[in-house]
Amino acid sequence: MKDTEKQTVSYLFPSDFWWGSSASATQTEGTVEGDGKGPNIWDYWFEQEPNRFYDGVGPADTSRFYTRYKEDIALMKELGHNSFRFSISWSRLFPAGRGAINQQAVQFYNAVIEELRQADIEPFVNLYHFDLPMALQEKGGWVNRDTVEAYVDYANTCFELFGDRVAKWFTHNEPIVPVEGGYLYDFHYPNEVDFGKAVQVGYHTLLSSASAIQAYRKGGYKGKIGIILNLTPTYPRSQHPADVRAAEICDAFFNRSFLDPSVTGEFNPLLVELLRQEEFLPMTEEGDREIIRQGTVDLLGINYYQPRRVKARESLPNPDAPFVPERYFDYYVMPGRKMNEMRGWEIYEKGIYDILTNVRQNYGNIECFISENGMGVQGEEKFRDEQGMIRDDYRIDFIREHLKWVQRAISEGSNVKGYHLWTFMDNWSWSNAYKNRYGFVSVDLQDGGKRSVKQSGHWFKQVIENNGF
Ligand code: NOJ
Repeated sequence: MKDTEKQTVSYLFPSDFWWGSSASATQTEGTVEGDGKGPNIWDYWFEQEPNRFYDGVGPADTSRFYTRYKEDIALMKELGHNSFRFSISWSRLFPAGRGAINQQAVQFYNAVIEELRQADIEPFVNLYHFDLPMALQEKGGWVNRDTVEAYVDYANTCFELFGDRVAKWFTHNEPIVPVEGGYLYDFHYPNEVDFGKAVQVGYHTLLSSASAIQAYRKGGYKGKIGIILNLTPTYPRSQHPADVRAAEICDAFFNRSFLDPSVTGEFNPLLVELLRQEEFLPMTEEGDREIIRQGTVDLLGINYYQPRRVKARESLPNPDAPFVPERYFDYYVMPGRKMNEMRGWEIYEKGIYDILTNVRQNYGNIECFISENGMGVQGEEKFRDEQGMIRDDYRIDFIREHLKWVQRAISEGSNVKGYHLWTFMDNWSWSNAYKNRYGFVSVDLQDGGKRSVKQSGHWFKQVIENNGF
């Protein structure tokens, strides 16, 4: 099909829809000798325990956006993107977490923003994507309230440096994930299992977000500021009250914990009740409530991958085991569901519509967009054809089916402004390293990180050109 060929469009999107993809600093930039970056928790953890990372590949060996950003942005333009979300690496800008600024980082992010603007791609900038500077982790990380202050300094510096050219800001990406990974389920540094700390970390993260939003508004900048949440629609196994309750509790812990205060300024009542009952309320200070009430978002980014299927627990948990939210519920796999076999995740396209409907009906129909959606696939090389292109028709199908539900939500009045795929080019995914590939563009690690556009990248370009499909 020729690039310019117009197709019949059955699913049309609003004319100013944001089409693009998302990425993060630690997952793409790579380490370059002498770049002045300080270590973050990922650099440190990899140094300590390389065997916890798939194939022993660490964050230094990523797709090297730091040196190849021009070529990558040119490819984004070629593929028709009108927007791109990336993050600023806190430990690149402030190698010690606070204090002295690394001027090379300033130059780098200025250059990236400039390159994007030249290509007519709107930069969406996220401040925190799982990557705490190690110097701050050594002082207790997000458990320590001082980290909130350091974060606000960092955020303010970013607004001052780049706020004249960046009009879409996000305070955190998936803030519940470092809580889960670092303090409950052992997949992020510092790999603790301590529910009390988990709650404190969540609270400080939320406070940091609200404080940064207030600072942004005080600065009089013209753009919008929000947060990016992984909202996971949570379905009970049956309408039995015990299953329904189990699903409500799971939803309160993993979704509404950040969604409610970020959008409404108020904590989720069920969550507060549970934390009180378990004696896990966080330590707070006078004045915090007001900050949280005033620091609500203008714009909500929604990451959606898969639903949660929940049932009531059939047996009592071991009372001596450390507390985890699953004390109140269990997961189950719904038989007969479409699965991403290669990843073991359920594919449930309607979930994206259920989230958007929930946001429309219960969260004031706040302006939002799909900030991540996508399909991680292992062993994609086997789908490469003789011309060298990965034929990822499964990804096209995945995106198309999700977009149909997004379009339906829009037609019913949801305030959805865009769709970003995770991710532009295959990248390093934390302890899974390069195991699951998500990109529109493949990165061949055996061939110096060579980029080649997958079938889905070409297909998406058509979608953008037609503003639908
Ligand atoms: C969510 C995260 O934001 C991103 O860092 C991660 O790599 C993707 N999901 C895929 O798991």
